[in-house]
Amino acid sequence: MRRIQLNINRRTLFKRIVYILLSLQISYVFIRLLKIKVPDSTEDWFDAGNISFFEKNKTYPFGSKQLYISCMKDGGLLAISTKCTHLGCAVQFNGDKNRFVCPCHASAFNQKGEVLSPPATRALDIYPISIVNNQVMVDTNNPIRRERFEATQLIYI
Ligand code: FES
Repeated sequence: MRRIQLNINRRTLFKRIVYILLSLQISYVFIRLLKIKVPDSTEDWFDAGNISFFEKNKTYPFGSKQLYISCMKDGGLLAISTKCTHLGCAVQFNGDKNRFVCPCHASAFNQKGEVLSPPATRALDIYPISIVNNQVMVDTNNPIRRERFEATQLIYI
């Protein structure tokens, strides 16, 4: 049997081991950072229910998540924060008038979250929505501040 003689001294061997360990550690950190930024991952998003649950021109409260989901006349969905953009009180949806009303200083917002009555000056915040396997998934960790409603904010079933 032939023995392979490595011509490496202890110092060189130690350096190489340290380089390999550092490379592995840096790779691990890099992979973790990439994993956090994956936009398609909806694992920790709020599951608001099957798309068949949402009827057109209705708004549904999800009190535990402090949001409403509004389904517009054309089927577009918006996940709207309950937090009033004036001073942060929780708005309530009035189904008869099809509007959100703030109990603190009477700001009012339409079904899309647009300001109807001051003192609030900008639209209610929204959350990203994604339809995954026919489930309406809401990213409650990333509210979107907005000044006004825009059609591109709607998600269609
Ligand atoms: Fe809503 Fe003031 S906090 S109107």
